[in-house]
Amino acid sequence: MTKIYAHRGAKGTYPENTMLAFEKAVEMGVDGLEVDVHMTSDGQLVVIHDEYVERKTDGEGMIRDMTLEEVRALSAGARYKDFEAYESSWEAEKVPILQEVLELAEYHDIELNIELKTNKVLYEGIEEKVDAMVSGYAIEHKIVYSSFHLPTLIRIKTINPNARIAWLNKKVPSIIYDYINTLKLDAVHLSYNAVLKKTGKIGKSEDKVRVWTVNDVDDAERFFELGVEAIMTDFPREMLQARKEYKAGEAGIG
Ligand code: G3P
Ligand code: CA
Repeated sequence: MTKIYAHRGAKGTYPENTMLAFEKAVEMGVDGLEVDVHMTSDGQLVVIHDEYVERKTDGEGMIRDMTLEEVRALSAGARYKDFEAYESSWEAEKVPILQEVLELAEYHDIELNIELKTNKVLYEGIEEKVDAMVSGYAIEHKIVYSSFHLPTLIRIKTINPNARIAWLNKKVPSIIYDYINTLKLDAVHLSYNAVLKKTGKIGKSEDKVRVWTVNDVDDAERFFELGVEAIMTDFPREMLQARKEYKAGEAGIG
């Protein structure tokens, strides 16, 4: 059955890419977490979506120009006062370091999709650093690396031939299985609207396709029917419920 990954954590309800959002998603029962990784000026791996901190923290600047200490001094929860679930304790949420997320994955039965955000800034050596850090935990089988930037995936696979890699694409590539076989991809991570428009291009590779970002129940049902490997969502609770109902419908219950 199609897996459900929490996109940047349960980001529809909690501050994205924070430990709070990841822990809440795990509590909800997701199959996996999707996280975004950048590198600071002192070579530390941090979990945040953008190349800069303005949108989702109370700070200013580019991650590549900031030290870990500077990034960790920021609040990753302060900008979420308009969220229904907001509590003042969110102010204390920090931009996580990758180790914190790996520790969470180590102690729970979840997969972890580490997206390397290398398509706008070239973080030299990030692939080696991430692989070295992950190898310190016995969870390699739970990790899938993704990137829009193909050279990053090729570097990861060269460093560690056992690494599972997934190519992020806003379009459905033609002859998709050729990319999967030739680049030894674990999967292709595709935009949901591209897949909905070009379902036929998936061919028989649906078990090698994960789809982002699926927040609509009707869309989710189409992907369950199609049999894609996973969907990524900002609203894991709702999508888990949709999957439960879909399964019950298939079994003729209710
Ligand atoms: O990994 C799927 C999705 O997260 C890619 O887009 O911009 O949300 O990182 P973005
Ligand atoms: Ca992402």
